[in-house]
Amino acid sequence: MTTHPPIHLDHAATSWPKAPGVVDAMARWYDELGVSADRGDSEASRSVADAVDAVRSKLARRLGMSPARCAFTSGATESINLFLRGFLRPGDRVVTTAIEHSALARPLVALCSEAGIGTVTVECDGAGAVDAQHVVEASRSTRPRLIALSHASNVTGAIVDVAPIVAAARELEARVLLDASQTVGAIDVDLGADAIAGSAHKSLLGPPGLGFLAVRDGLEITPHKLGGTGSARPSDAQPPHWPAAFEAGTPNTPAILGLGAALDWLAAHDAAAARRRALEAIDELRAALRRRPGVRCLGPEHGDLRLPILSFTADDLDPAEIGALCDLAGLRVRSGFHCAPWIHRALGTEAMGTVRVSPGPFVTADEVLRVASVLVRA
Ligand SMILES: Cc1ncc(COP(=O)(O)O)c(C=O)c1O
Repeated sequence: MTTHPPIHLDHAATSWPKAPGVVDAMARWYDELGVSADRGDSEASRSVADAVDAVRSKLARRLGMSPARCAFTSGATESINLFLRGFLRPGDRVVTTAIEHSALARPLVALCSEAGIGTVTVECDGAGAVDAQHVVEASRSTRPRLIALSHASNVTGAIVDVAPIVAAARELEARVLLDASQTVGAIDVDLGADAIAGSAHKSLLGPPGLGFLAVRDGLEITPHKLGGTGSARPSDAQPPHWPAAFEAGTPNTPAILGLGAALDWLAAHDAAAARRRALEAIDELRAALRRRPGVRCLGPEHGDLRLPILSFTADDLDPAEIGALCDLAGLRVRSGFHCAPWIHRALGTEAMGTVRVSPGPFVTADEVLRVASVLVRA
């Protein structure tokens, strides 16, 4: 086992290290504040409430949404569940895609049997790329009430060109739910979707256990997680107003403050340059991996519609074996299906999944390339 610190190449699962300032902001809550917003009479509680609102505003600005309609959740999974269950009605039709994460696929499939929701799933190509035009065509023929899709594949990094889908949805009077878990913090997600769900702990470089759901003014959804919101009046009914209606239970205040620090750091740094550097590293890795016989690299190779995520397989080694070899070499990659149940049909990786390499902004190209040397030695 190596004694060097691990090189984290699993940014698509969760980013590490976090943005500078995140740990200090969280520690400050544990060391000095210790209270929740709107729960308590102390000066600290009031100042935490102000700090949480400030983070909400910064986040909403990045999403192009109103802060008043941006709720903090435990993660994108909760956000997507809240939206699907709060928006869909029995018999509704939904257009979705084959790249979806289980966070969207599972609640949608459950709603199909529970509420007779009908879904049309738009296939992706062998690189995991979804053609926006195919989503538009499926929507024109299906006339769905909702188009629910991921902004990018967490398996191959292929980004979906959302603008034409949003334009078609407007014309068809359908709503768009965008799962921006992989993209928020890395690229612009302010693309006119009606609802955006995402995580704090991936490209936003914030803590785990925190996400958000932002919904456009005028689009009403029913709260499905009911409970305490710290509201002033005694009532056994969920308050109807945003964001309280969707924030039942004690919030993850230290994580929200940590996200605030991450948003500040991101605002002061060039995410586009970081993505370009990481994509160059991925391209070098792809070229190096291809020199080894039997390696198959998956995902888009050119163009701007891609995140720095590379999935690959090898003829003579299981993804899990490669993952274990990387671990021995101090490299954290991820093997398997990456919680994306449908995409592996198109990739031809249904049997064992892939090895996924996803560098964040704090690793160098040389560190990413070490994955190839592990395979050369194997
Ligand atoms: C595309 C996508 N959607 C949703 C999720 C779930 O996010 P969270 O862990 O915040 O619930 C992930 C996490 O891997 C993801 O990659």
